[in-house]
Amino acid sequence: MLLVLLLALPLIARCESWYNFWYDTGVLGSYPTNTYESFDLEAPRLNVLQWDERCDHDYILLTPRGHAVPAPGPLILDYTGELIWAEGRFGEVMDMKVQQYKGEDYLTFWRGTDDGTHGRGIYYMLDSSYEVAYTVEVPGDLDGDLHEFKLTDNGTALVTVYEIIPADLSLLGKSRDGWIYDGLFMEIDIETGDVVFEWRASSFYPVEETYAPIGDKGTEKDKAFDYFHINSVDKDTEGNYYISSRYMHTVTCISPSGDVRWVLGGKRSSFKDLSGGAASNFSWQHHVKWYPNNTLTIFDNGAQDRSIITAEYSRGMIVSLDLDHMTATLVREYRSPQGFISGSQGSVQIMPDSGHVFVGWGHTSAYTEFTSDGQILCDVHFGPSMFFNFGWVKSYRTFKSPWVGMPNYPPDVEIDADMGTAFVSWNGATEVAGWITQIAPSPHAAEEEYDSIGYTTKESFETSIELPEDLDGYYIRLAAVDIDGEILGYSRVFDAKTGHIASGTLLAPITQDITSLQQSLLSVCLFAAILIILWKARHQLPLSKMISCFQSCLSRFDYQLLPK
Ligand SMILES: *[C@@H]1O[C@H](CO)[C@@H](O)[C@H](O)[C@H]1NC(C)=O
Ligand SMILES: *[C@@H]1O[C@H](CO)[C@@H](O)[C@H](O)[C@H]1NC(C)=O
Ligand SMILES: *[C@@H]1O[C@H](CO)[C@@H](O)[C@H](O)[C@H]1NC(C)=O
Repeated sequence: MLLVLLLALPLIARCESWYNFWYDTGVLGSYPTNTYESFDLEAPRLNVLQWDERCDHDYILLTPRGHAVPAPGPLILDYTGELIWAEGRFGEVMDMKVQQYKGEDYLTFWRGTDDGTHGRGIYYMLDSSYEVAYTVEVPGDLDGDLHEFKLTDNGTALVTVYEIIPADLSLLGKSRDGWIYDGLFMEIDIETGDVVFEWRASSFYPVEETYAPIGDKGTEKDKAFDYFHINSVDKDTEGNYYISSRYMHTVTCISPSGDVRWVLGGKRSSFKDLSGGAASNFSWQHHVKWYPNNTLTIFDNGAQDRSIITAEYSRGMIVSLDLDHMTATLVREYRSPQGFISGSQGSVQIMPDSGHVFVGWGHTSAYTEFTSDGQILCDVHFGPSMFFNFGWVKSYRTFKSPWVGMPNYPPDVEIDADMGTAFVSWNGATEVAGWITQIAPSPHAAEEEYDSIGYTTKESFETSIELPEDLDGYYIRLAAVDIDGEILGYSRVFDAKTGHIASGTLLAPITQDITSLQQSLLSVCLFAAILIILWKARHQLPLSKMISCFQSCLSRFDYQLLPK
């Protein structure tokens, strides 16, 4: 108890309000969420510690995961933190961003399985209706790693790949016949799937240049030593590549022909540091991005998990390189707001219009928007700061981006007939400004038979609409309209009296009707179970047989219950 109090004291001192306090001490839970009437998935409840209207109004792309996140998956929030899109069908995803391919915007991410430090999976590109438009795979026996999926202007994708290879580890005091994870990146043609360029760390970096402790790794193939840890790839307009190595503490520039042009940081930096070390002493870093005029952004963790801490705080950095004089200058650093250390993951982004700097703190469930000169504008937690060090809630990277989502599926509606309220949401639809309530005398009414009886401005992800009394005998639908009053789509048709989907659509695979449907199907199964029990009494059926019989009865209905 005393310990908890001691831990909480610094929080009390900082908190603006009781909500901030309860949130950050974990009283509201390790991952507080909002739930909805019309929609099954949950969205994180945020703790906004600092707020400024000047913060960029684009969407926030978050991929929460960790022990406290029961259903990890991609999330889009608006700039205030209100849910826009949540999706359960992909499970854990990483590195979600909006990128362009052939002039269109795509929501892109990696999906697969991860072992804590790297992943095996493939890359997805969703179109504006959230359908999978393209997937990109690493050809052959290797898999796509989780760290990077970056599209170029030439219709190619840059991805990271880990490959286990034999290596002489004698300089690290281990066997000559050891094993390492080599760090590769590939440039893959999206249309054809061909690898158009490939580079591997072992062609340039010897194992002894690593800062990573080898421990008991490297002795066997399935205990390969991850000596390099590639975690980002970028490409400039002249075709040079920029890669980040967490364990070398370096950024490496590689020419279009595969030669190393220069190295920033680590044990053999090519640059003189004009900032007394501050431009090149980053460590265990993530997410290096190239900007024009030889400017880089770097997320400097300053720590490897909680085991090796090399800096006082994690930071976003902007570094300017002068390639004529081979000098590096720290333009600005963006420190973690409470001076916390994020031991892994993280991202930095310069917002193109405002020049604001948006930092996702990776392992720490927080994101912060700074002015370009380093003043904090918005500071948000999506998990309590009490548990920051545990990584119970984390998002590998967090970005802000414009996005237009127009789903093909209809809006979700839940009608509470007793309360006379309709709850409506449209997962992923970014253009909805409000909802028109329409009624008709029949469930199969023609368009002209619908009467519009009210308009409700969209409040948040879910809008609640008071329905007029005396709608008995009428059928309701809700029309989503955009800011110009154009209709974007209609919900299904509901019986105003019961609040159920109008007949004929009962078994449609949509989420809002599951509860009532489930209940009736469950009673069918229970009834069957009773019959089986009676039957068992006569025929001496073994219990296990009965249970499997009941399960198969349940599963028969399952596919109808599953949302599409
Ligand atoms: C695109 O291709 C052109 C011609 O091959 C090349 O000069 C340019 O560097 C490439 N750009 C990117 C971003 O890949
Ligand atoms: C990096 O260099 C700066 C400037 O000398 C110094 O203040 C800072 O403590 C250094 N950081 C680390 C992690 O060594
Ligand atoms: C480009 O970077 C250099 C420093 O390397 C700086 O002196 C110069 O002003 C920058 N130019 C532009 C156009 O930003």
